[in-house]
Amino acid sequence: MAKMEVKTSLLDNMIGVGDMVLLEPLNEETFINNLKKRFDHNEIYTYIGSVVISVNPYRSLPIYSPEKVEDYRNRNFYELSPHIFALSDEAYRSLRDQDKDQCILITGESGAGKTEASKLVMSYVAAVCGKGAEVNQVKEQLLQSNPVLEAFGNAKTVRNDNSSRFGKYMDIEFDFKGDPLGGVISNYLLEKSRVVKQPRGERNFHVFYQLLSGASEELLNKLTLERDFSRYNYLSLDSAKVNGVDDAANFRTVRNAMQIVGFMDHEAESVLEVVAAVLKLGNIEFKPESRVNGLDESKIKDKNELKEICELTGIDQSVLERAFSFRTVEAKQEKVSTTLNVAQAYYARDALAKNLYSRLFSWLVNRINESIKAQTKVRKKVMGVLDIYGFEIFEDNSFEQFIINYCNEKLQQIFIELTLKEEQEEYVREGIEWTHIDYFNNAIICDLIENNTNGILAMLDEECLRPGTVTDETFLEKLNQVCATHQHFESRMSKSSRFLNDTSLPHSCFRIQHYAGKVLYQVEGFVDKNNDLLYRDLSQAMWKAGHTLIKSLFPEGNPAKINLKRPPTAGSQFKASVATLMKNLQTKNPNYIRCIKPNDKKAAHIFSEALVCHQIRYLGLLENVRVRRAGYAFRQAYEPCLERYKMLCKQTWPHWKGPARAGVEVLFNELEIPVEEYSFGRSKIFIRNPRTLFKLEDLRKQRLEDLATLIQKIYRGWKCRTHFLLMRKSQIVIAAWYRRYAQQKRYQQIKSSTLVIQSYIRGWKARKILRELKHRKRCEEAATTIAAYWHGTQVRREYRKFFRANAGKKIYEFTLQRIVQKYFLEMKNKMPSLSPIDKNWPPRPYLFLDSTHKELKRIFHLWRCKKYRDQFTDQQKLIYEEKLEASELFKDKKALYPSSVGQPFQGAYLEINKNPKYKKLKDAIEEKIIIAEVVNKINRANGKSTSRIFLLTNNNLLLADQKSGQIKSEVPLVDVTKVSMSSQNDGFFAVHLKEGSEAASKGDFLFSSDHLIEMATKLYRTTLSQTKQKLNIEISDEFLVQFRQDKVCVKFIQGNQKNGSVPTCKRKNNRLLEVAVP
Ligand SMILES: Nc1ncnc2c1ncn2[C@@H]1O[C@H](COP(=O)(O)OP(=O)(O)OP(=O)(O)O)[C@@H](O)[C@H]1O
Ligand SMILES: [Mg+2]
Repeated sequence: MAKMEVKTSLLDNMIGVGDMVLLEPLNEETFINNLKKRFDHNEIYTYIGSVVISVNPYRSLPIYSPEKVEDYRNRNFYELSPHIFALSDEAYRSLRDQDKDQCILITGESGAGKTEASKLVMSYVAAVCGKGAEVNQVKEQLLQSNPVLEAFGNAKTVRNDNSSRFGKYMDIEFDFKGDPLGGVISNYLLEKSRVVKQPRGERNFHVFYQLLSGASEELLNKLTLERDFSRYNYLSLDSAKVNGVDDAANFRTVRNAMQIVGFMDHEAESVLEVVAAVLKLGNIEFKPESRVNGLDESKIKDKNELKEICELTGIDQSVLERAFSFRTVEAKQEKVSTTLNVAQAYYARDALAKNLYSRLFSWLVNRINESIKAQTKVRKKVMGVLDIYGFEIFEDNSFEQFIINYCNEKLQQIFIELTLKEEQEEYVREGIEWTHIDYFNNAIICDLIENNTNGILAMLDEECLRPGTVTDETFLEKLNQVCATHQHFESRMSKSSRFLNDTSLPHSCFRIQHYAGKVLYQVEGFVDKNNDLLYRDLSQAMWKAGHTLIKSLFPEGNPAKINLKRPPTAGSQFKASVATLMKNLQTKNPNYIRCIKPNDKKAAHIFSEALVCHQIRYLGLLENVRVRRAGYAFRQAYEPCLERYKMLCKQTWPHWKGPARAGVEVLFNELEIPVEEYSFGRSKIFIRNPRTLFKLEDLRKQRLEDLATLIQKIYRGWKCRTHFLLMRKSQIVIAAWYRRYAQQKRYQQIKSSTLVIQSYIRGWKARKILRELKHRKRCEEAATTIAAYWHGTQVRREYRKFFRANAGKKIYEFTLQRIVQKYFLEMKNKMPSLSPIDKNWPPRPYLFLDSTHKELKRIFHLWRCKKYRDQFTDQQKLIYEEKLEASELFKDKKALYPSSVGQPFQGAYLEINKNPKYKKLKDAIEEKIIIAEVVNKINRANGKSTSRIFLLTNNNLLLADQKSGQIKSEVPLVDVTKVSMSSQNDGFFAVHLKEGSEAASKGDFLFSSDHLIEMATKLYRTTLSQTKQKLNIEISDEFLVQFRQDKVCVKFIQGNQKNGSVPTCKRKNNRLLEVAVP
């Protein structure tokens, strides 16, 4: 808002008039005075409508600060005092918002400030367009391409210390948002003759001086250069230093810029190497040397320089040396070599230096383009900035000036076409009343130069291509013939009194009256420069260079690609590229900056009226103002106009149904715009005054704000309403849920109250009924009691006589019952303990209860036995079963039995599994071991005993050696038929085997063991469970055993106590074995 308040206008605090259109009266004098007045007050910019006139101040003014950029940003063109930023802003916004490609055409003579203006435009656009890391990099690269190109393409001339010696057109590309994407630079014809020779008071291209002043010692050594300018023939000495220019600092700036633009270090170095090579080429000198056959030949004076060049560029010295001494001409497969004389050698040297440098320059432009080119393929909006060398009139004007001035002619032409001619033609086309304004149309001069049949350039080409001797003079002759009658051409031969005030016309010159003035061209060098000839030997030598950059600059030197066709001439190339440029410019919306040079001294504060007058004349600025004043400031087709302003009128907003023109008419009537302010063309509306347009714009802005408010209002209303509706809906839902909940709650309360009341009533009713029933029952009982008593009385009365007869029996039964009852109750208290072996039992109280008493005792005993048994685990049960079996087998039969009852049966006395000694034995047996015990085996022959391990498994009986654990015999249980033993207290027993079985070959076994009872029992049980047959156990003090073939009787006798308590065994004879049992 603050900005709006301090808003200035073109008309505020105006020095002179800001827009020449407003100048009164309008003539050359007032025009110049106005410019001067403004110039004196540091107002260097003035408008003619939308064209900006810029007068070079030759000093820095504080009008390009970031604050100024902000001031001009997004402002209407005429809103603030005239400025190049206003034009830049207008162009940028039109590009961004209306999608119109723009071009900014900057014209003016050399030193008028074109290059500065182009930089200002670029920096303004860079400052106002999008921001962001990527965008900033693009901007930075675009801006930094300037110092690089200026170092290589600009030079000090008498007119300008930083004169552009090449034409430059740069397309800056933007995306749809107006953010820069990249750019493309086109360069036009570098003035390469400057490389080898500079006019008095001028310098070679900046880069040479920058390199020598700014390079480090190390770099200079590397390039074999010396810091002293005077060492180099190609550098003019009289103006090697330019006031206010620090070449060394600029060198650093350029290197830095190269880095930012994206040159690799090695690329930058290569470039400097080429520059050094060019410098050093200038130092090669030739001396004449006569040959025997009389032909002149040249020789290089000092080969040192040549050697250094060759080292720097990697060219074979002999190849280059030869290329400087010979020239090979190829025609129809024939090669002819001729020697070069000194002059030709110098010519060849200079041609090489010029070519090398100009090709390097083109390479630089391409390289920069590669870096700055847009990375996307999306459609781009384009803003072109054209900064081409200004119109030049020197003392000696050559081919370059001719070309430069031709280019300026073309630019003037396009200006005329697009502004003056086009504008007037448009009025006619649109049927607007219009008085024609005269202006000079330079089309005729363009035609003189570029006409394809008899234009100067065509003549020059024709001359260059003509067979026979061709010189600059023959060319001039030709011009004299063809162009003699042209109004703008003049030469000594064709001299007429056309250009009256200048009668001196030297030989070998021609003069052209350009739109900007008369220029005298020296014809010398035209043919050469147009041919731009570089001897093939040299280009081939360059192509052979080891230096990749140099090699790439001379592709035609590749012998494989020899092209005998002549390359296009410099003139025709330039003409073609200018034509393309013009075509390109015509597709874009033009914006003009016309630069004016206030003095020839490059000095501030000096305003040379004559010089300025000359410029405004040839620039046709006065005509420009006249056309502008007579015409209309603004025009637009009806449709976009209606589209833009339709919101300003009720009838046209939001839709106008009808032709656009009628819509605009309605609109303008409604807005009460004075009729003289506008005219209706056939397809466009023309607005005379910019102020009317601004008024429209302001109204539109205001209206847009109102519309925005309206949209906001409606949106807010909609938003609130939707919110409200949602709230209401939610409220209904909540209310419904709450009501449901409340009703439920109430219902529950009512229900529980009802239940309470109901229960009370039911209780009361029930109690009442109960009371009634109880009463009735009591009545009934009373009645029954009364009836019983009454019946009792009746019965007693009737049966009294029988009572005594039955009394005895009754009393007996009763007494008996009482006694039995008492017996049982007492028994309960006298019960013995639960131990099955407890023999106690209470004494019998009555004899008549004897059998009952015994039966009770038996039942009790059985019961507690069962109780006792129930406590057994399965294992205990097994043990007891075995013990029971033993008891059944041996009790009362064998005297040894009672002593075994107390011993638990262990079976595996030898722990074969655990004892490592028996590992082998254990491994041999797979089955479960039931008995493992050491027994004495009685020797069948003598009755002596040996220890053996006795093993019983599920199916076998095994005997093993006690020490080694080796199995001695193995008897399957099915082969065991009987076990015999005595009835006495000894541990002998015989195992009888089935006759004829394998095990029985040696006969039956006789053993003695400490656990006879257990072993016999286990053997019995195992045999029973495995063979389902009862093992026969014979208990007898005399039994037979089968020892091999013999039947031997084993007899147990009562022995004496001599041997202690151990029974002894003795074989008496074949038939008898005696065991003495103590
Ligand atoms: N707006 C400006 N403010 C300050 N100095 C300026 C301005 N414009 C130009 N100059 C000065 O004038 C000199 C010449 O300007 P510039 O190089 O832009 O001329 P030119 O029109 O490009 O000339 P040429 O055709 O020779 O390239 C600049 O070096 C600078 O010193
Ligand atoms: Mg310039």
